[in-house]
Amino acid sequence: MTVLSADAEVDLAIYDEIEALKRREDATILAHYYQDGAIQEIADITGDSLKLARAATGVSSKTIVFCGVHFMAETAKILNPEKRVLLPDMLAGCSLADGCPAPRLARMQAELRGEGRRFQTVTYINSSAAVKALSDWIVTSGNAVEVVRDRVPSDQEILFVPDRHLGRYVEEATGRRMILWDGACVVHEVFSVTELLRTRRRLAGSITIAHPECPVNIREQADFVGGTEAMLKYVESIEIPADILVATEANMLWRLENDVPRHRYHPVPGVTCACNTCPHMARNTLEKVRDCLRTGAPEIAWRDEFDRAGGVLRRSLLK
Ligand code: 13P
Ligand code: SF4
Repeated sequence: MTVLSADAEVDLAIYDEIEALKRREDATILAHYYQDGAIQEIADITGDSLKLARAATGVSSKTIVFCGVHFMAETAKILNPEKRVLLPDMLAGCSLADGCPAPRLARMQAELRGEGRRFQTVTYINSSAAVKALSDWIVTSGNAVEVVRDRVPSDQEILFVPDRHLGRYVEEATGRRMILWDGACVVHEVFSVTELLRTRRRLAGSITIAHPECPVNIREQADFVGGTEAMLKYVESIEIPADILVATEANMLWRLENDVPRHRYHPVPGVTCACNTCPHMARNTLEKVRDCLRTGAPEIAWRDEFDRAGGVLRRSLLK
């Protein structure tokens, strides 16, 4: 039997297949809020990057299927060396992680040290393990302000990598000056202020929420700025049904509609299209989830840099 899901025909048998394979393989499925709604529905745990990284350390099954992008599955493996971590599509990358290769970061750090500057490297979790291994702190959109404000020594400069927009947001929120790596997310960078204002004019009294990966011209139009978990909490706190404009990846609207259905959600359009879907997240499909459980691949293999990256991740996210 087939049914129409949000954007595709889904063979219902695949849900039973995935359930059976999950039991056979002793697996737990984790899914990020940017995954297709059908994948979020079959997941045991959904969340933002911070919640999922923490949840991965509490999973009791032998296998984790990580429905998200590579750096997320890699993080789950680093925090759980003894577990098998599967990523439905090994090519599910991230423009932020790709834009900050470890050798380039190492060169920049060496240059800054050569100039006699004392700094801490604060790295967004959207980065490779090799970059994390070169870092002093790892942050997510959910804890970046708190870590920079409360934990990064105040007598040193901060080199913030790889998202210049999140870095600028944290800089404004904490008052700490930063050296910003010149990276951005391909999804959050393309929202159109003109379209946002046009939509707002059409929806009088609407509320705008934006992810801190958005550029400042979008953020300054927002009533609320926060990561995906914070967005959920914020809309839950609004009692009266409202029109809410959402400036983040399109699948987040599925989560918001599912969890807080009293509001009407509208995607903020992009400059060139209205979709704002992350092409990397979209590589994962129900079929690939089933297939990775069937075959045990693709699996995140242990790498040397995971040891050092693990120390930084644990002290930054779990303490
Ligand atoms: P959060 O899940 O922390 O909100 O981050 C969004 C993101 O871009 C993940 O890649
Ligand atoms: Fe990376 Fe942006 Fe996709 Fe998140 S939405 S995984 S930051 S490319």
